[in-house]
Amino acid sequence: MSNYERVAPYQPKYIMGLESSCDETSVAILANGNEVLANLVSTQIPLHAKYGGVVPEVACRAHMEVINPLIAEALEKAQIGFNDLEAVAVTCGPGLVGAVLLGVAVAKTLAGCLNIPLIGVNHMEGHIYSALLENRDIEFPMICLLVSGGHTMLYKVDGLGLYTLLGSTRDDAAGEAFDKVSKALGLGYPGGPKIQALAEHGNKKAIRFSRPMLNDGYDFSFSGLKTAVVLHLQSAERGSDADICASFQEAVVDVLSKKALRAVSQYQAKSLALAGGVSANRALRERLHQGAKRLGITFACPSLDLCTDNAVMIAKAGWELANRGLRSPLSLDAKPNLELV
Ligand code: KG4
Ligand code: ZN
Repeated sequence: MSNYERVAPYQPKYIMGLESSCDETSVAILANGNEVLANLVSTQIPLHAKYGGVVPEVACRAHMEVINPLIAEALEKAQIGFNDLEAVAVTCGPGLVGAVLLGVAVAKTLAGCLNIPLIGVNHMEGHIYSALLENRDIEFPMICLLVSGGHTMLYKVDGLGLYTLLGSTRDDAAGEAFDKVSKALGLGYPGGPKIQALAEHGNKKAIRFSRPMLNDGYDFSFSGLKTAVVLHLQSAERGSDADICASFQEAVVDVLSKKALRAVSQYQAKSLALAGGVSANRALRERLHQGAKRLGITFACPSLDLCTDNAVMIAKAGWELANRGLRSPLSLDAKPNLELV
């Protein structure tokens, strides 16, 4: 069943966004589709860190405990009441089934009780809007690289809501590779920021790790690279952890940026966007920024606080869907494997 039904386009003055698909509970309020009045994120990282990754049952329970207080706090921060809300947008997938279900149930309750439109948002589409929030002059076609803990996808975007998937990962996601290498090095979870910090003190040319599928279409593969790093850790000449982190990060950045920039040239894109948790990576942002500059196109990527999961991007995507005349029925369901097409 479709997540949407068509209505006359509408522009909610105040829209609440809810995000609970993985390990952050977030509530945001957006005014007039652009102005962030509240963006509250309650992270569960300390809860999951001791297990080395996200534990679904722990995630669900934590979302349940904090979501109502966060909603109250967001309204207070925005200085509005429940009755001022004109729409509620919520991540309806992809993600951990129980975690997404919880957010959807809360959003449906709000929409039903307040008699306002409910808008289900694909979490990955939310990430795309995090890049567009602060870059309003985007021209299409746009190439968008979405890199998170669960996904690595390259899209051609021909206009708002018009997505063509060019390639995705065949095994591990880019963020997952950062997390697994970090775990192997004993650096902890989430791995991306820890690897980036160590990499800054290392030599990126110290070890020549393989660049999987570099010249091979638009699909990605990171599990072989992760294994190469793990095997390297057992070798006699392993060198410093900083060199290993710098060399691993360089291999990931090389593959991601070369494919994204090749797609820009092949499809004569007018802009390039980077989003998802891994878009916080400084080396990747810098490489794509330079590449886009060389090609004379716009580069859009979220500010650092909007790279990882947040509800501002869900509220923004929800507002744009409303503006296109879409809303969700109250029968909206959580779709853990929801795809973006
Ligand atoms: O989008 P996100 O918050 O959650 C998912 O939807 O998965 O992405 C989280 C991922 C984690 O794998 C984390 O290690 C990675 O983003 N990440 C980074 C950095 N910051 C977060 N990866 C590389 N460099 C970073 N600075
Ligand atoms: Zn995400």
